[in-house]
Amino acid sequence: MSQGQDLWLFGYGSLIWRPDFAHRERRPASIDGWTRRFWQGSTDHRGVPEAPGRVVTLVPEPGARCHGVAYRVAPEVAAQVFAELDHRERGGYLRVELPLRLARDPAAGPDPQIVAARMYLATADNPNYLGPAPLPTIAAQILHSRGPSGPNLEYLLRLAESLREQDADDEHVFALEREVLRLRAP
Ligand code: SIN
Repeated sequence: MSQGQDLWLFGYGSLIWRPDFAHRERRPASIDGWTRRFWQGSTDHRGVPEAPGRVVTLVPEPGARCHGVAYRVAPEVAAQVFAELDHRERGGYLRVELPLRLARDPAAGPDPQIVAARMYLATADNPNYLGPAPLPTIAAQILHSRGPSGPNLEYLLRLAESLREQDADDEHVFALEREVLRLRAP
C-alpha cells in the first residue's frame, strides 16, 4: 500500500451507485479498451448459488470505452476501504490496477488526466463467470433473480439511471433495460 498518496478507484457497476466507503472526491471517468458486460454470475448479492443473478464485469475490446466513476480515497483510510471492498467483491472479482481517464475538473487546473486506478474485474476463469448469452436470456435472468442485496432488476435499473445522469452511453446496458421493461410490462 503506497504511503501518503491518494488512491483512485474506478467503479463501473454497483460501485457507481452504491459507494458505501469513504472517499474525498467522485468524478466521471472512463477506461479505454474495455467494455461493460452482464457476464458475471452473482451468487452472493443479486442471486443465490442455485439461481445466480447477472452483474457486470469489464471485457477487453479494442477501441471500446467504458464510462463509470472515479473515487479518490485518502491514504489514511485506504487499507480499511480496500479490505471492505475486497470482501464486497469477493464473488469472483480480482482487484487490478489499470490506467483510467478522469473527466476534466475545470476548477482543479492542470491535473493529470490519466491516472493509475484500482478496479474490480471478473475474468472468465472465476467459478461464477457466466459469459455471453442472447440479450433476452440475460434480461429474463435479471428480471427473475434476487439475492441477499436485493433484486437483480434494481442493479440493472440503477446502473442505467446513473449512466444517464452522467450522459454516458452504453448500448448493452440500455438495451437490457429496454428488454426487462418490455418483459415486465403487463
Ligand atoms: C464495480 O462496480 O466497479 C464492480 C462490479 C460491481 O460491484 O457491480
